[in-house]
Amino acid sequence: MFDRSLKIAPSILSADFADFGREIRAIEDQGADWVHVDVMDGHFVPNLTFGPPAVAAFRKHVKTVMDVHLMISPVDPYIDAYAKAGADILTAHVEAGPHAHRTMQAIRAAGMKAGVAINPGTPAEAVEHLLDMVDLICVMTVNPGFGGQKYIDMTAKVRKLRSMIGDRPVHIEIDGGMDPTTAPLMVAAGADVLVAGSAVFKGGSVSTPEVYGTNMRAIRDAVSAAKAA
Ligand code: DX5
Ligand code: ZN
Repeated sequence: MFDRSLKIAPSILSADFADFGREIRAIEDQGADWVHVDVMDGHFVPNLTFGPPAVAAFRKHVKTVMDVHLMISPVDPYIDAYAKAGADILTAHVEAGPHAHRTMQAIRAAGMKAGVAINPGTPAEAVEHLLDMVDLICVMTVNPGFGGQKYIDMTAKVRKLRSMIGDRPVHIEIDGGMDPTTAPLMVAAGADVLVAGSAVFKGGSVSTPEVYGTNMRAIRDAVSAAKAA
């Protein structure tokens, strides 16, 4: 059965980079549904993060779902490396090259779930012809590259995607600026997966992991309260 319930995917871009193993265990113990890994190449986006060996090292600690978000171009030469590194879901940007259709086929052929990410400046229609070959659409609510940026409203785009998806088993994930104020807007528009970096990790550490739990609960509670209203 396709799971459209709310899922929180903390981005380890906001974790302590010297302590990923314990950070991943801490967020999972505190109730994270998925672990979001932001891969950046210094070319598609103006920042550099993790290659396949780093992602393979994270895998050893992830017990839930490892959700790998590629902000790289080109994508296709690296798909097998991220499959070997243990990604469960591999998401590539529709803007990353001229052959997003081929990229989605290649991700599934490598045994992973396929995600397509879409930048704030790209219309929903850009992914229309991919709907039958993806498991997830990641709607960026910031311009990708950095954590802690200000949320850009994409409510109309999410609503449009939700109706384009119909009853297909496709998740809508929101990435950027998710917190207790912005998350309810996106869930109301049709999202089921919320990536959150700074809003989950702020104020906590591996020695005070309960703060991560409190931060995630604040997001869930805000979503439930908005639904009940
Ligand atoms: C942005 C990344 C995000 C980022 C989210 O390029 O794709 O996953 O870590 O961070 P916050 O939640 O701090 O906006
Ligand atoms: Zn991301």
